[in-house]
Amino acid sequence: MSSRADLGMAREELAQARSVVALTGAGISAESGVPTFRGQDGLWRNYSATDLATPQAFARDPRLVWEWYQWRRGLIAKTTFNAGHAALARLEAGTTDFLLVTQNVDGLHRSAGSQALIEIHGNIWITRCTGCGERREDRRLDMELPPGCQCGGLLRPDVVWFGEQLELAALNRAQDACLSCDLMLVVGTSAVVQPAASFPMLAKQKGAKIIEVNLEGTPLSSWADYSFFDRASLVLPQLILPQS
Ligand code: OAD
Repeated sequence: MSSRADLGMAREELAQARSVVALTGAGISAESGVPTFRGQDGLWRNYSATDLATPQAFARDPRLVWEWYQWRRGLIAKTTFNAGHAALARLEAGTTDFLLVTQNVDGLHRSAGSQALIEIHGNIWITRCTGCGERREDRRLDMELPPGCQCGGLLRPDVVWFGEQLELAALNRAQDACLSCDLMLVVGTSAVVQPAASFPMLAKQKGAKIIEVNLEGTPLSSWADYSFFDRASLVLPQLILPQS
């Protein structure tokens, strides 16, 4: 585990880096009140991914899948971004070449002001028509379920479900950034879901420094250059100072 002295060194490396990629997962939004997936209170403890987050589940029972997404949308609607999200938006503003790759679908990074952002698992506030393919922002919390499109097709949340491919353009952009960055910050992800879990290794193999922030050890911790085991909303503001 990295020490207080390491915090200063990691802060300096971040401030000096020309090209930075940040990869985030559910842990960064945990302190905003958005549940994570794994761990003691994780969603996958109480809900089945197979029943709720696969194309087969949606084909079988779109209403059930939508009820679960409406429950999650209701939870997220009550939250706001935290100091961790805000620090990453600050980092973008102060870095020549920056990309934030998030696995989160909650939209909190954008609310915090991040713009160089790829939501590789989609966004829970966007719907996509399974008929005509149209995507649109949709924040309704009290609509009839499952919602339909004007074309007659069924709407689905524009998120990536298990068994589905990530959007190729987004995946390529994220991988290219990982291959060319000087430094990668990995925050609040258990680093077990592919392909995002392999992004830090891509960066490391090309010589980038890796800084990890998580409550606990992950598969990355043994080879990350720095690992800070504490809350993202505490560590990130210390790594990314307001004036940096
Ligand atoms: P997980 O729920 O797997 O992991 C969350 C991580 O955040 C864990 O390693 C926690 O230790 C850490 N954590 C929790 N609170 C934290 C805090 N306050 N500060 C820092 N770290 C904290 O979430 P993801 O890694 O994002 O995919 O999961 C990846 C994907 O698996 C999700 O996007 C989702 C899920 O199944 C799909 O739905 C396709």
